[in-house]
Amino acid sequence: MSGTGTGTGYTDDRGNKDRSITNPDGIGTMNPAEGQDNSVSPVPDRPFLIGEAMTGGYGKGADILHDCTIAVEKGEIAVIVGPNGAGKSTAMKAVFGMLNLREGRVVLDGQDITHLTPQARVGMGMGFVPQNANIFTSMTVEENLEMGAFIRTDDYSGTMAQVYDLFPILKDKRLQAAGELSGGQRQQVAVGRALMTEPKLLMLDEPTAGVSPIVMDELFDRIIEVARSGISILMVEQNARQALDIADKGYVLVQGRNAYTDTGKALLANPEVRKSFLGG
Ligand SMILES: Nc1ncnc2c1ncn2[C@@H]1O[C@H](COP(=O)(O)OP(=O)(O)O)[C@@H](O)[C@H]1O
Ligand SMILES: [Mg+2]
Repeated sequence: MSGTGTGTGYTDDRGNKDRSITNPDGIGTMNPAEGQDNSVSPVPDRPFLIGEAMTGGYGKGADILHDCTIAVEKGEIAVIVGPNGAGKSTAMKAVFGMLNLREGRVVLDGQDITHLTPQARVGMGMGFVPQNANIFTSMTVEENLEMGAFIRTDDYSGTMAQVYDLFPILKDKRLQAAGELSGGQRQQVAVGRALMTEPKLLMLDEPTAGVSPIVMDELFDRIIEVARSGISILMVEQNARQALDIADKGYVLVQGRNAYTDTGKALLANPEVRKSFLGG
């Protein structure tokens, strides 16, 4: 089990050094991409969620994604794998409205939401757990869940009870500072926080990073449970074999492009994918 509980904050040194979400200087940088006017328009005959032919990069910088397509159907699990720096997190941010798309679009539940801000996308049913700094370490577990419900004006106590049913350890530790929890428990807080808005689509960027194999298996079981309740899961994973094993659909990204797209099982059985991305 990782997470030393030193109370110094979320100091895991893993993944990339993405400063677009985590800003150690203290002022939030989760700015929406340019050109967002919050207009939506209906689009027929698409998967439940699709980031379609997405091309774009950060600010005025070079394109990171090149004609990249990621989709997931209702209640299914889609997994994005690929080498470090392939653009997996960037693809997630593009779907969430944190990237300037030069081409392509994002469609959720029959609506083109390409021009919505991230906040508006949460209102449309997206929940996003970013790769880093995805909890408030100095707040209690319960306060983290309350923060997750920030856009709700109705009574969210039922949703909180559901989160505690899904992750019973969080109920035991609900009055403890989230920063004192183990790595796996922190990830449960992060997932629980995202569930508080009752999303239709839950996006998870490396939810099992830094946790033991047993904790990873447990988290995957809970994620399967969430999917069975009808929520679509779009997940980036370093534990590619295990993640593809539970995936309805798998995407191998390389240098911002779709390299392989198939069912999770088919990708696991594909000799080229095995050799290049799954360690043989
Ligand atoms: N906020 C950012 N600003 C500029 N470039 C970034 C930013 N975040 C990531 N990148 C670049 O985008 C590319 C893809 O990164 P990323 O999507 O984080 O890869 P992955 O998640 O697959 O490891 C890398 O070259 C990375 O340096
Ligand atoms: Mg990443």
